[in-house]
Amino acid sequence: MASFAVILPAAGSATRFGGPRNKLLEPLARRAVIARAVDAFLCRDDVAMVVIPTVLRDEITEALGSAIGAKAIERVRFCSGGPTRAHSVRAGLAEVPADIRWVAVHDAARPLVSQDLIRRTLEAAIAHGAAVPALPVALTIKQAIGPLPARVERTIPRQSLWAMQTPQIMPVEALRRAFENCPIPLEQATDDVQLLELMGEAVWLLAGEERNFKITTRMDLRIAEWLLQEEAGGPSAVR
Ligand code: CTP
Ligand code: MG
Repeated sequence: MASFAVILPAAGSATRFGGPRNKLLEPLARRAVIARAVDAFLCRDDVAMVVIPTVLRDEITEALGSAIGAKAIERVRFCSGGPTRAHSVRAGLAEVPADIRWVAVHDAARPLVSQDLIRRTLEAAIAHGAAVPALPVALTIKQAIGPLPARVERTIPRQSLWAMQTPQIMPVEALRRAFENCPIPLEQATDDVQLLELMGEAVWLLAGEERNFKITTRMDLRIAEWLLQEEAGGPSAVR
């Protein structure tokens, strides 16, 4: 079984969510959003370490609490983040030791990732090189030069469009090389495997999961709360 490192970028400012504390520290069915993302990986024997780029080290440590156990917390490492998500991922990557072959980058703001999705993404990465869960784009997408109101330039056929999720799993060495040779300003990189694509590396998509959405707004948190309540057998079950 290949063991892998996980980078959970958690250095964003949660602007769209707003409020006094970062969305990652918000309780979701009594466990913080980020704690659920960490749990999903630390419960696995094949996870060698979880690196968390963040400025909220103390708050996140407290949110993880004793629930994960003393042995599991030894696999968690914190580092500073950067001005964009890609900078934060690069900072996290610097903490991954040379003997680890695979790395998964997973948004700390995706607390509902399933074990099945992690397993399938890892298997696809080992089979193909780099793998990313994706969902078909259900929206009709039009191109126009904003801000609105603006005239439509064209409609993009959506059959070949896919919305990216995480975890994005790839060889550590490929991601390191991709950061070193990145031909575009890092702030323009919107996901991790994009850097591999720019080097001409193959990246494969596999079926993502609807419930693995990212908590971006307060409405997302309410939906996630509702899903967990429903799975637990109704509102009383999580109280
Ligand atoms: N992230 C990061 N470093 C940054 C920006 C984002 O590590 N400079 C992380 C976030 O903490 C989050 C993930 O990347 O876990 C996805 O980003 P997003 O959902 O956009 O979170 P925020 O950037 O915090 O939110 P917003 O864009 O609304 O400010
Ligand atoms: Mg952001």
